[in-house]
Amino acid sequence: MPRASCLNYEEVTANFTWSIAEKELHYKPGEPINIGWMCSDRICQMGNERKLALIWENFQGEHRQYTFDDLRLLSNTIAQFVCDLGIKPRERVCLFMDRIPELYIGFLGILKTGAVAQPLFSAFGDESLLVRLKDAGTAAIFTQKKHVHKIRKIRDQLPDLRHIIVVDAGDSPLQEREIAFHMDEARRVEDFVVFPTFAESPSVLHYTSGTTGQPKGAQHVHYSIISQYLTSKWVLDLQPNDIYWCNADPGWVTGTSYGIIGPWSNGATQVVLDSGFNAESWYHFIEKQRVTVWYSAPTAIRLLMKEGKEIVRRHDLSSLRHLASVGEPLNPEAVIWSQEAYGRPFHDTFWQTETGCIVITNLPGMPIKAGSMGKPFPGITATVLDLTTFEPINQTGIAGLIALRPGWPSQIRGYWNNEAGFNAKFKNGWYLCGDRASIDADGYYWFMGRDDDVINTGGHLVGPFEIESALLEHPAVHESAAVAKPDPVNMEVVKAFVTLKPGYTPSDELELEIMNRIRKKLSPLAMPQEIEFVDSLPKTRSGKIVRRVLRCKEFHEPVGDLSTIMDD
Ligand code: WT7
Repeated sequence: MPRASCLNYEEVTANFTWSIAEKELHYKPGEPINIGWMCSDRICQMGNERKLALIWENFQGEHRQYTFDDLRLLSNTIAQFVCDLGIKPRERVCLFMDRIPELYIGFLGILKTGAVAQPLFSAFGDESLLVRLKDAGTAAIFTQKKHVHKIRKIRDQLPDLRHIIVVDAGDSPLQEREIAFHMDEARRVEDFVVFPTFAESPSVLHYTSGTTGQPKGAQHVHYSIISQYLTSKWVLDLQPNDIYWCNADPGWVTGTSYGIIGPWSNGATQVVLDSGFNAESWYHFIEKQRVTVWYSAPTAIRLLMKEGKEIVRRHDLSSLRHLASVGEPLNPEAVIWSQEAYGRPFHDTFWQTETGCIVITNLPGMPIKAGSMGKPFPGITATVLDLTTFEPINQTGIAGLIALRPGWPSQIRGYWNNEAGFNAKFKNGWYLCGDRASIDADGYYWFMGRDDDVINTGGHLVGPFEIESALLEHPAVHESAAVAKPDPVNMEVVKAFVTLKPGYTPSDELELEIMNRIRKKLSPLAMPQEIEFVDSLPKTRSGKIVRRVLRCKEFHEPVGDLSTIMDD
């Protein structure tokens, strides 16, 4: 196969089958397939034992690096440790850590045992953590000293959680169910018999937020690697000598599909910077590590744009060869700006936790229309459906629901314990993404917005339900609605509307008090930036809160005709 940038879209699409990826990975249908093994042992077998797999740095300037052989041995070591604890295949093992090497390598180790890896964002508060560990019936959790207090607070409510593994315990005292494990000091296990998982064996469980109910566990399988491998090669254009940087945290799907599985199944060297946003340190990192391929997100790009071009000129960013973005609409200004500032445009990629891999994108070599997400990846059949009939709209420029024909390798196989929720995502044989777009005469997709009340803040989906539940726990709160409010950097932030119980009156002190109370329960992303006290909330005749009305007001958009659903 030629390099991605030389692919002819029409030709490749016409002749496409996923067996292209199966062959490149030497996978034969019906045989065992294991992501942990594919990303480490297989790469070594191809003669890359000494190649660097991971170059890691944190904001304090600590650094560590690992070859593919280290990856193989250390994931074996973790796998052996997990097995020795008595964890069985298909049991859920959570990774609750900052972006430290143990997180990346632990992910592979867990998968080698046949257990299911459940990554959770380390900034989650105990409430967010509890909901997800309880739902998954998680058997063990890997964490760091700095986060263990959150687990201690909720462990009594988690009878299934048998082991709390602390990767940097040192000499600090451990409590019930806790055990220390130090990856870099452990005796390295040369031979570990990888559990023979098959295409449909469960691999990763990612929690994602919807409009209704608690977050849903999106259930991936080992076969997902087929499309994660190929999209990394063709969309991110990963080549043998690349130094790849993915900004995403593996608590979210971008950080696993394209922060672990995609690059390592391609045998690519990746760099990780465990620190928050800072333009100076990011540019310094790119310059120092000679990053060639960079996968980022619109919020980060907007922050970089705010810092201007002068700071760009002070760094040598000439190593950058290919840039891609995901998570939110990529504004045309950002594409134009990056072309001016870095000499390369950002290529938009659209996908979801549920799709597991990029499904609509600007492939390298394809002309970019700034503001468009691009076209369906070869092998993905996409369309937009009429909002009421759910039939494909065969006209250009008309807004419809983004829909995909089920059946690509990394599509989730279900939501954990929630069959009804999963079934509700399908209409007329199409999978509905929950987003709206239009398609132009050249087949390019133009994103228009979400089709539900989910809030997208800085590329992270936040479900209103979780925030509202936390608010309702406050004694003063009678009812609440969480909606998106526009924000120049994060695109959207959370705003909460609250009605109070009798005996309480609105005040700044009360707002602060409520904020402080829920801050500990929610992830920082889900925290409302503002609480507005109101006398009543807009409701349907049957009493359901209509968040859309509040959202439209925040965005100064017309609400449309509500006469059929609303109270008078
Ligand atoms: C939702 C999925 C998949 C990685 C990150 C998020 C929005 C994603 C784009 C894009 C406009 C986008 C959609 C989508 N989204 N990429 N390129 N342009 N919107 O995964 O948390 O499952 O969120 O993010 O609304 O449905 P996720």
